Amino acid sequence: MTVTIVGSQLGDEGKGALVDLWGGDADVVVRYQGGDNAGHTVVEGGEEYALSLVPSGAVRGKVGVLGNGCVVNPRTLFEELGTLRERGLDPDVRVARRAHVIMPYHRRLDGIEEEAKADSDSGVEVGTTGRGIGPTYEDKAGRRGVRVGDLLDPDVLRDRLEYAVPQKRALIEDVYGLEAGEECDVDALHEEYAEFGRRLREEGMTVNCSAFLHERRAAGDNVMFEGAQGTLIDVDHGSYPYVTSSNPTAGGAATGTGVGPTVTGRGEVVGVVKAYLSRVGEGPMPTELDGDEREEALASDIREKGGEFGTVTGRPRRIGWLDVPMLRHAARVNGYTGLAVNHLDVLAGLEELRVGHAYELDGEERLSLPATTERWAECEPVLREFEPWPEVDWGAVADDGYDALPAAARDYLEYLEEQVDAPVHAIGVGPDREQTVVRTNPWA
Ligand code: GDP
Ligand code: IMO
Ligand code: MG
Repeated sequence: MTVTIVGSQLGDEGKGALVDLWGGDADVVVRYQGGDNAGHTVVEGGEEYALSLVPSGAVRGKVGVLGNGCVVNPRTLFEELGTLRERGLDPDVRVARRAHVIMPYHRRLDGIEEEAKADSDSGVEVGTTGRGIGPTYEDKAGRRGVRVGDLLDPDVLRDRLEYAVPQKRALIEDVYGLEAGEECDVDALHEEYAEFGRRLREEGMTVNCSAFLHERRAAGDNVMFEGAQGTLIDVDHGSYPYVTSSNPTAGGAATGTGVGPTVTGRGEVVGVVKAYLSRVGEGPMPTELDGDEREEALASDIREKGGEFGTVTGRPRRIGWLDVPMLRHAARVNGYTGLAVNHLDVLAGLEELRVGHAYELDGEERLSLPATTERWAECEPVLREFEPWPEVDWGAVADDGYDALPAAARDYLEYLEEQVDAPVHAIGVGPDREQTVVRTNPWA
């Protein structure tokens, strides 16, 4: 049995909280794409863990795997493992030998290209997390990347670096007219990264991901796939070019781990939805609350109450009403079998509550997204009013179950189920594992 958890919007929907909640019944939790651009929060009994690379199942002591579709920065990985160990956890993390390695020159180039885009007035600056994600996936597709398996063989690692690094130096110096630094010192890189390879080997951390998962499943284990980012920042199905460079959508769980699509397709695919919308970085957001002072004040209230500041970069997140055309797109692209709707508590007590039910484009109403980002940016939201629900004792609601939710909140959820054509399995009413109304266990 597998359960795949996917972000339905623009990231930070509360995937970490759901992986933690349902990870209790999983044996293995696998990340299938992305790298340390992710920031997944797990709160257990008031203790907060912010995980960037280590799968969120670590908090419950599950085996974590970084699949072949991930990009792995070993500096971040070992630092994060160290921090978790200091906090009393004992994470068991395996890394696919086919996963690509984020090298220091990738991070440097991420920053350089973002600056070049900003200076160019081309409007294509993405507002990346600066973690080197895009340049690493470029090298993967360009067949010049360094893979985790290459770190295990110092000779292979040297060959890879001796080819790639002079190109990066030329790019930095000859194309961008900047000075290359330590990130282009082959000997220093070789020494540090061969040492990472030695550590990975010594600690038995590398795996053939596909074979490893096959064996675990054959032994009867439950496997959970933890998506990072969200559908609208997927490189294929998102708001290109304001996207990340991987496939957070459900298909990525198969290609990013070496498990067949028939396996993930027989399991549950749960879309995590934030009850409103947030975005870090550039790109259109038709329901953004930024039209006038009143809207900005509302956005600021939601931002403060929901703690909407980037887990990785600390940037304030842009805020908007729930965008339903976006969710119809996400449900279709991912083939959802269910939804988990978070942050219902954050919307409590508002004076007004709306959702973007549809878009208006060229005088016509549309229920889903146009395929180009420029056309999406031209969409005006067709808003629908909902009755706001009051502030209640959310802890008591989580204990008592669905019927204890305020009636107006249930109306909101039932509207969503109808529009997206998927049942709501769980409702987040606070950040803690306990602050969740569970209706259906996807493993059952
Ligand atoms: P992820 O990247 O999808 O895992 O989400 P993040 O962890 O980046 O952002 C979600 C934030 O909202 C975190 O601070 C969570 O602790 C918090 N959170 C998750 N679910 C809920 C919820 O239902 N209510 C509230 N108030 N906060 C939540
Ligand atoms: P989680 O897993 C929200 C955004 C960045 C930027 C774009 C590309 O916590 O939901 P990148 O560094 O990936 O090349 O940046 O994607 N982004 C995220 N936004 N949550 C995330 O992860 C994100 N990971 C990347 O802000 O707009
Ligand atoms: Mg996040």
